[in-house]
Amino acid sequence: MALILSSCIFSQIEGNAAFAQQSVEFREFIDTFDGYSFNYPKNWIQVRGANADIFFRDPFVLDENLSVEVSSPSSSSYKSVEDLGPPEEAGQKVLRQYLTEFMSTRLGVRRESSILSTSSRIADDGKMYYQIEVNIKSYASNNELAVMPQDRVVRKEWDRRYLSVLGVENNQLYELRLQVPENVFVEEENDLRRVMDSFRVNKLSA
Ligand SMILES: *[C@@H]1O[C@H](CO)[C@@H](O)[C@H](O)[C@H]1NC(C)=O
Repeated sequence: MALILSSCIFSQIEGNAAFAQQSVEFREFIDTFDGYSFNYPKNWIQVRGANADIFFRDPFVLDENLSVEVSSPSSSSYKSVEDLGPPEEAGQKVLRQYLTEFMSTRLGVRRESSILSTSSRIADDGKMYYQIEVNIKSYASNNELAVMPQDRVVRKEWDRRYLSVLGVENNQLYELRLQVPENVFVEEENDLRRVMDSFRVNKLSA
């Protein structure tokens, strides 16, 4: 009897701990001008002037952030996210785009990248969204000009995961992008997936 009772209390404590971990509060961000919305962890901070339509970052992990980019209304004529090809093909494009953006002119910098997953889903708004997950690692050698190979020490600069959700509306392509150091990803995964799942592109009234 005592045994049953104690195991019962134990599982209750465990249950509370699990609840505490999941109890991050979310807030909805709605851009009625550009036509998109998503939910983000309430304690994230908006950063202005960060070269994106909208930008939020984690208050503690500076390298963990989200942004939304919208293709220019005048030059885009997307009908559906399928214009990018199947998710696998869109994944290649997204990765190429990242590698171009993060290109370094420093000597001795090397990037290693891989597409971890690509998928599509129909959200509750009836629209199709693509989800792309990519890992990029950056290596740098601190003494590229050294004559002796043993003097060229290569070290890992960073190792990041990029999670991207793509959607089309108003003839425009929308991308929600999450960036997070790979070693933080595991503990933040549930929250990050919740942000991804909440992303919607919304029809603008003409
Ligand atoms: C966002 O995170 C990336 C890495 O994950 C970092 O390189 C970048 O500087 C961050 N951006 C801002 C504005 O904090």
